[in-house]
Amino acid sequence: MQTWLSQALLLQLRYISCVVNHVVPPGNSIGLSNVSEGTSGKNFQDVGCDASILIDSTKQKQSEKDAGPNQTVRGYELIDEIKKALEAACPSMVSCADIITLATRDAVALAGGPNYTVPTGRRDGLVSNIEDVNLPGPTVTVSEAFQVFRAKGLTVADMVTLLGAHTVGVAHCSFFEDRVSNFQGTGSPDPTMDRNLAANLSKICASPNTDPTVFLDQSTGFAFDNEYYKQLLLKRGIMQIDQELATDRSSVGIVSSFARKGIAFKQSFANAMVKLGSTQVLVGNVGEVRINCRVFNTQKRAFSAKKTRPRAL
Ligand code: HEM
Ligand SMILES: *[C@@H]1O[C@H](CO)[C@@H](O)[C@H](O)[C@H]1NC(C)=O
Ligand SMILES: *[C@@H]1O[C@H](CO)[C@@H](O)[C@H](O)[C@H]1NC(C)=O
Ligand SMILES: *[C@@H]1O[C@H](CO)[C@@H](O)[C@H](O)[C@H]1NC(C)=O
Ligand SMILES: *[C@@H]1O[C@H](CO)[C@@H](O)[C@H](O)[C@H]1NC(C)=O
Repeated sequence: MQTWLSQALLLQLRYISCVVNHVVPPGNSIGLSNVSEGTSGKNFQDVGCDASILIDSTKQKQSEKDAGPNQTVRGYELIDEIKKALEAACPSMVSCADIITLATRDAVALAGGPNYTVPTGRRDGLVSNIEDVNLPGPTVTVSEAFQVFRAKGLTVADMVTLLGAHTVGVAHCSFFEDRVSNFQGTGSPDPTMDRNLAANLSKICASPNTDPTVFLDQSTGFAFDNEYYKQLLLKRGIMQIDQELATDRSSVGIVSSFARKGIAFKQSFANAMVKLGSTQVLVGNVGEVRINCRVFNTQKRAFSAKKTRPRAL
């Protein structure tokens, strides 16, 4: 349940709306390898924010190292199943991009988050380019992170709200372990992290030759609620970017407000997701409605694919 929610949020974030090229380690939780490295030597970076990433790179030759591959299969299979049912009922009508957007909406609602109305009518892309990308890391500053969001027409408030998605899901130690023991070479934990938390995480991350994960929201890692913000005020943010939201002047007010008002957070999250889901989408007769989310339609099919218009479901 929570794993699908995490995957859905990441898929929506990274491959539909392409606001941030979300940082995920090789063999990661959505099973896609680091876009610039990859197992098969072929990787696709979405250029059109249009579900291109669902395209199989080759035969999904995945490393069997961690839980990643199985979760991937689940995530992708769910999309495949939905697509199959839709193709049976109304062929070539609903794009893979819309399926992800709607599945994410439902996953958020099922985990206790808001339900919201998302416009549909997205089209799937015809292009998947192999490109090196600059992945914003978990140590970017709030203002650096904001540059990325602003470039997509989103506000600081949108960004702080969307980062509230870190109320579910996990982070690998490799993304934060410097904070728990040897912060910036000081030999001490990050002073902005609660001491006891740092000590606990330090033990978890000490496990040799593995890269364990911990919940990004140490209080309620499975529930879609405003605990993430409450935890930040208690210096219990996991990654640097998370904790900095509670100290940076541009974001601390929003964090405090969401920590007090759970309903306001959910409302804002719904609005921000709709905004995110409307960023740089393909509509009209651009692209195609893919018949199988994992492969481009044939050229012929691409031309005959029905046109869809943006409409609210
Ligand atoms: C500056 C912006 C952001 C940065 C730097 C960032 C960074 C990260 C990192 C490093 C992880 C840990 C990945 C891992 O260890 O596998 C993570 C997890 C996650 N992020 Fe973000 N993130 C950002 C914004 C967002 C946004 C806007 C969303 C969704 C709307 C989001 C959703 C998630 C989810 C659901 C997880 C958990 C994944 C899992 O459980 O496997 N993130 N993020
Ligand atoms: C992705 O791979 C490139 C090239 O190997 C590497 O430089 C980069 O640090 C990797 N990014 C992540 C988030 O692992
Ligand atoms: C995937 O699931 C199967 C069956 O539950 C299990 O045998 C296998 O070890 C799992 N693989 C990974 C990489 O977790
Ligand atoms: C969210 O709302 C839509 C539209 O009212 C509805 O079809 C959908 O089932 C709802 N999702 C959940 C998980 O309740
Ligand atoms: C540290 O771990 C202990 C034992 O699991 C737990 O009771 C405590 O709440 C944790 N403290 C923090 C700050 O995470």
